[in-house]
Amino acid sequence: MNKILELRMIVPNMHLIKIEAPDISKKVKPGQFVIVRPDEEGERIPLSVADWDQESGTITIIFMEVGASTSRLASLKPNDYVATCVGPLGNATEIKYYGTVMCVAGCYGIGSIYPVAKALKGEGNKIITVFEARSSYLIYWLDRFVGLSEKIFTITRDGSSGYKGHVKRLPDIIHGLSQLPDIIIVNGCTYLMAQTSNITKDLNIPTIVNLNPIMIDGTGMCGVCRVTVAGKMKFACVDGPEFNGHEVDWKEFLARRKAYMEEETLFFRRSEPESKLHKEGKCQV
Ligand code: FES
Repeated sequence: MNKILELRMIVPNMHLIKIEAPDISKKVKPGQFVIVRPDEEGERIPLSVADWDQESGTITIIFMEVGASTSRLASLKPNDYVATCVGPLGNATEIKYYGTVMCVAGCYGIGSIYPVAKALKGEGNKIITVFEARSSYLIYWLDRFVGLSEKIFTITRDGSSGYKGHVKRLPDIIHGLSQLPDIIIVNGCTYLMAQTSNITKDLNIPTIVNLNPIMIDGTGMCGVCRVTVAGKMKFACVDGPEFNGHEVDWKEFLARRKAYMEEETLFFRRSEPESKLHKEGKCQV
């Protein structure tokens, strides 16, 4: 059981949770994740670690409320306990000097890319940050990135900040730079990572994505997190979570991510017990 020290919504639907986890805070590295279970009945949710403090023995996670389990997690309060918080899991980001690194992030990815950008800056890389969001009010932690980034660009669907549109505006930003980035790192939803990888493949810019498939054990035993990368089966939890975005089978990845979409939707529609899944006895929520 791990105590929750802080839990609040930082922008609509996006929550910051600070958990007491001294052992994890001593070992975690940028790019790694933990598996959290909100309560004894809850699913195991893989969540990237966005920040940590060894002195206070805490880790900070940014998560989006998207389904039953994240909704349960969001409903907890400071001083409550999560049933499980295990980690750090997965491989850390390769932190070294690349030259110019473009960090592209949206929704919970803004949080998870923060320690990566910070560590890469520490290695002398020039950081260019691109935030993608539906609207400017969904962008958070801007202040944290100001000190790290040579330049910050925003793409918003409503045009309330920066470039109007979605990630397909990325080439406009890239071509406006004096030289192409040496590498692009993308954290966020599947659409953002897949589209960015498509764009950068054409531009021949190496691109790293941080995959977020459904997971159970997080240690390579259950096979739930399997993804196809460069035609080979990989387990995101032990072989990743970072992969070459140009080699990921995005179609398959998206299909697997959506596997429990109907059950997730049903969680929010408990007042409709006669749904197909309830009738078939496949959903108890
Ligand atoms: Fe079970 Fe990766 S989560 S193998």
